[in-house]
Amino acid sequence: MAPLLLLLGLLIGGVVHAGDASASRVSQPVIEAARGGQCVADPAFMRRNHMQLLKHQRDDTLRGGMRTGQYSLKTCIDCHASKTTNSVAASDTNFCQSCHTYAAVKLDCFECHTNKPQVKP
Ligand code: HEC
Ligand code: HEC
Ligand code: HEC
Repeated sequence: MAPLLLLLGLLIGGVVHAGDASASRVSQPVIEAARGGQCVADPAFMRRNHMQLLKHQRDDTLRGGMRTGQYSLKTCIDCHASKTTNSVAASDTNFCQSCHTYAAVKLDCFECHTNKPQVKP
């Protein structure tokens, strides 16, 4: 529950204050849990900053030839792919789609990158 409340605060903090009774009436995204292990950084940090990490990594990759790193998209998918769809972006509860559908963010990443893990589910 805590991550969802924090997310809610992050997304609509400018409009509704956390703890405000009306916040509970706003629908929240359903985010499927990771397969296990520990995130590459603190989840609260990741919630706010994952887009910068991934974008920087992409620029580094394309300009500098850096292919593996702490913030590889492949590793995110290995841990965060859904146990039911085996994907991070095949349904609205799948990890990379859950918040983005909620926040109306559209990604083009999976036109080129696979949304499924290399490892077996
Ligand atoms: C037009 C095709 C294309 C699109 C769209 C695209 N990428 Fe990439 N991306 C590449 C290629 C090519 C590489 C370099 C080859 C590799 O390392 O797999 C790469 C590498 C990366 C890497 C480093 C290697 C890895 O596997 O982690 C990251 C991180 C990454 N992209 C993130 C993203 C994100 C996030 C998005 C969406 C915002 C995105 N990419 C959209 C083509 C694309
Ligand atoms: C070794 C497994 C692992 C890897 C690799 C990993 N994560 Fe995580 N991640 C977790 C766990 C565990 C959590 C805590 C929440 C949960 O259990 O789903 C988490 C939480 C998060 C959250 C906060 C989710 C929320 O509910 O608010 C984001 C965002 C996130 N990760 C993004 C990423 C991104 C982007 C990558 C790749 C750069 C990545 N993670 C790589 C395991 C992982
Ligand atoms: C806890 C909620 C949450 C999860 C889970 C999540 N995102 Fe995001 N993501 C967001 C929000 C909110 C934004 C928009 C932030 C903004 O507008 O500043 C965003 C934006 C992005 C952006 C920048 C898009 C743009 O056009 O600028 C990328 C890239 C991105 N996310 C990649 C991912 C990937 C890849 C995953 C799965 C590994 C993921 N996100 C999972 C909440 C999340």
